Amino acid sequence: MFGIALAIVLCLSLSVQANFPDDPKPCKYGDGECIMQLVNTLFSEKFSAEDPGLNLVQLDPLKVDRMVISQGVSDSPVGITLTLTDNLLYGIKDQRIVKVKGFGKDMATKHELKIVAKHFALVGPYSIQGKVLILPISGTGQSNLTMDNVKIIISFSGNPVEKNGETFLDVTNLKMTMKPESSHYHFSNLFNGDKALGDNMNVFLNENSEAIYKETGPAIDKSFSELYLGIVKAVFAKVPYAKLFAEE
Ligand SMILES: *[C@@H]1O[C@H](CO)[C@@H](O)[C@H](O)[C@H]1NC(C)=O
Repeated sequence: MFGIALAIVLCLSLSVQANFPDDPKPCKYGDGECIMQLVNTLFSEKFSAEDPGLNLVQLDPLKVDRMVISQGVSDSPVGITLTLTDNLLYGIKDQRIVKVKGFGKDMATKHELKIVAKHFALVGPYSIQGKVLILPISGTGQSNLTMDNVKIIISFSGNPVEKNGETFLDVTNLKMTMKPESSHYHFSNLFNGDKALGDNMNVFLNENSEAIYKETGPAIDKSFSELYLGIVKAVFAKVPYAKLFAEE
């Protein structure tokens, strides 16, 4: 009997939590702890499905229509243009915010999120051209680019915009930096499918992944910043700022 009652209470509290997107309990302006929990809830498993309430596209895996990672040849030992089309990014649902700054009453002040992601994998069709540490690289096929234990800092500012009598935060100037503990690459069908060359190149890339990430990191950050700008902008365009944050 007690077991059943407990189960019902658990179900109820779960369904109440699941309603959160329609009816979020606001945090106090600038209350980092509360905001951290609120946003972590957003990113947790129950929102990995498409969520019209918060204007979130399906987050995990997230469709990445096109991402170009372009690193100039001139001043770097790595000069590549890597184009990813119709890729899927896995891992957003397992990212956790560990620190929050900003989100005060003045929307124009800088907002900052520190996030830890266990694992990101970007998987799908690629095409690459260029050179990596002197070796030429070229190919078109399927790739899997992964990063483990990624420390992320996202900062942005914003402007208040009025819509239907309510005030929304319009997110601007979003910058994201990522520091993965390690990264791994796999490109199928390199060099027109020359298996020996391709296998060697994949081994070479992974043996030198740290040096390669050091060179390509800023270009990757830039591409991810654009991706995250879309996500963060959509959330704040859907939910009035006063519904997320309040005086009390
Ligand atoms: C991508 O590679 C990682 C290992 O680096 C692996 O864990 C993951 O399953 C791969 N994903 C796909 C879809 O192949």
